[in-house]
Amino acid sequence: MERRASSMEILLFTATLVAAASCSSSQAAGSKSSFDDNFSIMWSEDHFKTSEDGQIWYLSLDNDTEAFESGCGFQTKQRYRFGWFSMKLKLVGGDSAGVVTAYYMCTENGAGPERDELDFEFLGNRSGQPYLIQTNVYKNGTGGREMRHMLCFFVDKVPVRVYKNADYANNFFPNEKPMYLFSSIWNADDWATRGGLEKTNWKNAPFVSSYKEFNVEGCQWEDPYPACVSTTTKNWWDQYEAWHLSDDQKMDFAWIQRNLVIYDYCKDTERYPKLPEECSLSPWE
Ligand SMILES: *[C@@H]1O[C@H](CO)[C@@H](O)[C@H](O)[C@H]1NC(C)=O
Ligand SMILES: *[C@@H]1O[C@H](CO)[C@@H](O)[C@H](O)[C@H]1NC(C)=O
Ligand SMILES: *[C@@H]1O[C@H](CO)[C@@H](O)[C@H](O)[C@H]1NC(C)=O
Ligand SMILES: *[C@@H]1O[C@H](CO)[C@@H](O)[C@H](O)[C@H]1NC(C)=O
Repeated sequence: MERRASSMEILLFTATLVAAASCSSSQAAGSKSSFDDNFSIMWSEDHFKTSEDGQIWYLSLDNDTEAFESGCGFQTKQRYRFGWFSMKLKLVGGDSAGVVTAYYMCTENGAGPERDELDFEFLGNRSGQPYLIQTNVYKNGTGGREMRHMLCFFVDKVPVRVYKNADYANNFFPNEKPMYLFSSIWNADDWATRGGLEKTNWKNAPFVSSYKEFNVEGCQWEDPYPACVSTTTKNWWDQYEAWHLSDDQKMDFAWIQRNLVIYDYCKDTERYPKLPEECSLSPWE
């Protein structure tokens, strides 16, 4: 544990998922709630821990051969449509090759054939080598919209990816179904680091990622007819600013595109001889 806490390579930043593919200022709710108010454990209860005051949550991964699946994950009890979702993640420090720390939203608790999903996956690396962040989008069970960025440094609220809602039929934008928010840690050394060449070094286990300051400024789903199903002008996510980047954000976004993108499915014509339709949409309008 001490080894991890003192590591210089630990990255601390706010990972932000914006379901409406937009950015806006968010006001922190600031209320201290306990884990059980808003979350439940998905698997491996014994690989989950909180700090004494309950405000920091730890997920750990080891190769406990007794466990059906090592690693751990938690999810929100509520589902949401539209909004600003944020949490501070502290990734595994030091040699984290093979380990994936995920922060994602999904309409289901599982890989169902009709799920919509938005992924942020942090791919670990050997000591001193950069983490990568892989993002992806699923609509009705179909994904394949990966981008990968280097994660050299991070500034809160810098948009790394803009994914446009073009608002037409068959638009590949996951906006119809409410989603849970998930966090998890797992072993993916068959693909995560240098394409699976770098294996997880279990001598360094347990691998621990931590989480705090979960915040949602969004539309919580309520059956049968949620308040947020139609557009009003009452909520911040219905305002122009929520659907567009500011000039500063555009500059930051352009810088990220130039300097940190290492994979973009929209440029991968070997994989997609005919590029998916959304690739031709401008992120700016
Ligand atoms: C968290 O749980 C509390 C208590 O059930 C609830 O009032 C609140 O709306 C929940 N927060 C979110 C962001 O879902
Ligand atoms: C962890 O798992 C690997 C692969 O299954 C095995 O070779 C290794 O001995 C295990 N290590 C420990 C500490 O259990
Ligand atoms: C979603 O996927 C399911 C299963 O593949 C399919 O039957 C259904 O028609 C799809 N729905 C839409 C709206 O495309
Ligand atoms: C890990 O580091 C290597 C060497 O710098 C780099 O090529 C790779 O993209 C990094 N990240 C992952 C997840 O493989």
